[in-house]
This record gives sequence, structure tokens and C-alpha cells, in this order.
Amino acid sequence: MKIHVYESAQAIGQAAAALFAAQVLAKPNSVLGLATGSTPVPTYREMARLYEQGAVDFSGVTTFNLDEYLGLERSHAQSYYHFMQENLFQHINVPQERIHVLKGTAPDPEQECLDYEEAIRAAGGIDLQILGIGNNGHIAFNEPDTVFSTQTRVVNLTESTIQANQRFFASADEVPRQAVSMGIGSIFRARRILLIATGEQKAGAVRAMIHGPVDPQCPASILQLHPDTVVLLDRGAARDL
Ligand code: F6R
Repeated sequence: MKIHVYESAQAIGQAAAALFAAQVLAKPNSVLGLATGSTPVPTYREMARLYEQGAVDFSGVTTFNLDEYLGLERSHAQSYYHFMQENLFQHINVPQERIHVLKGTAPDPEQECLDYEEAIRAAGGIDLQILGIGNNGHIAFNEPDTVFSTQTRVVNLTESTIQANQRFFASADEVPRQAVSMGIGSIFRARRILLIATGEQKAGAVRAMIHGPVDPQCPASILQLHPDTVVLLDRGAARDL
């Protein structure tokens, strides 16, 4: 893992957006893996700025998002589809037909997950995957587990993730209890991974990811074995290193 520490979330956003821009400049038909949550917001803002300035053209790009809440319509304000439209896709020029977000209301969620894996494969695999990390070490909605070999599938959210995500909902009761999520196996196949963490509340998970044993109880620890992972941290998230 290559680890870099920055002074602010904004500086991380600039560095991460520059990596995305470099990826797309080098390979205009890149397949990008995208995440939701608070962490990538400065990155997406900066990607939009680079696009507006004419520095990068996303018209040849295909995207796959990591996950989606099960049962939320795409029009729901807290759906990850809605989040991505608001925070990124409305501001750059990825063609809508090449944007992939798992459907939380698919009639057959298991089939939706199999089709999603197949679509990633058919697109040639993910070139650059951005990840956040949960306070419990999760990546996407891969919660602490006993195995790493998971593919895109239906998952149950842990109480810690429900508590962490309730800030976006009126109450914890409204947070969906299940999601559809790319698996650790699906994420690990990305050619390059960019993990971002900001804030002291992530310090324990970041330490376990980097210095702990490679153990599915800290899902992000698998990244110690990935051949090309870059980790961007602020001083809070890097506190315990
Ligand atoms: C989001 C995702 C999650 C988040 C993680 C951190 O698509 O897959 O793993 O990256 O929960 O969330 P934030 O950035 O809100 O702290």
C-alpha cells in the first residue's frame, strides 16, 4: 500500500480527482468504480471542476457503484443512485447508459447481483476503484465476516453501520437493514484501488487495515495484499499509525 497523509479533506479531494483525471486521460474508455458516503464528496466536487475547466472528458467512461440500499427507490433522497446523480453525474459527462448502480428495488435482487458481476466482467473489469472505509473496517457494505471470497450479493447491515448511517435519515428506524453490495472478491479484482479516510473516527479502522492481520474481521485489511492500492488520509484518520 502507498500511504499519503494530507492536511485537509479538500487536499485529499484534489489528489484523488487528479488520479481519476490521469486515469481517464491515459485511457479514455476507463471503467471507474465509485463509492458514496461523505468521504468522496470533495473528490467528486473536484472531478466536476476539472471537467468544467476542460481538463478531462468523461464521455468514454463506464462506471460501477459499489452498493445500494435494498428496498429504496432510485428517486428516494437517500438512495445511492440519487446521491451519485446529485454529487457527480449531473456535473460531468459520463453517458447515462454507461452508469451502473445496483437496483435496490430489483424484483430478484440475487439475479440483479449476478447480472452486475457479469456487466463488470463484460466491461473489461474495473480500472480504478475509489473506496471509503467504515468505522468497523467495512469496504462497500462488506461487514466484518469470516471469509473474503464474496461476490456481489445481498447483505445484512450491522448495527454499527446502521448507527453510522442514521445521520442521513430521520431516525435509525428508517435506515434499511439490507443492501446489495459488490463483494470483497469483486473489489479486489480492480486493477487499482484508491482508499480515502478522513477524521479521527476512522483512525482505529485505518490502523487495523494497515497494521493489523489480514483478517475478514477487518474487511479492508485484504488491501494489504492488493498489488496497487493507494491510501489517502488526513491527520485525524492517520492518528494511530
Ligand atoms: C459507500 C460505501 C461505504 C462507505 C463507508 C464510509 O458506497 O461503500 O463503505 O465508503 O461506510 O462512509 P463515509 O464516507 O460516509 O464515512
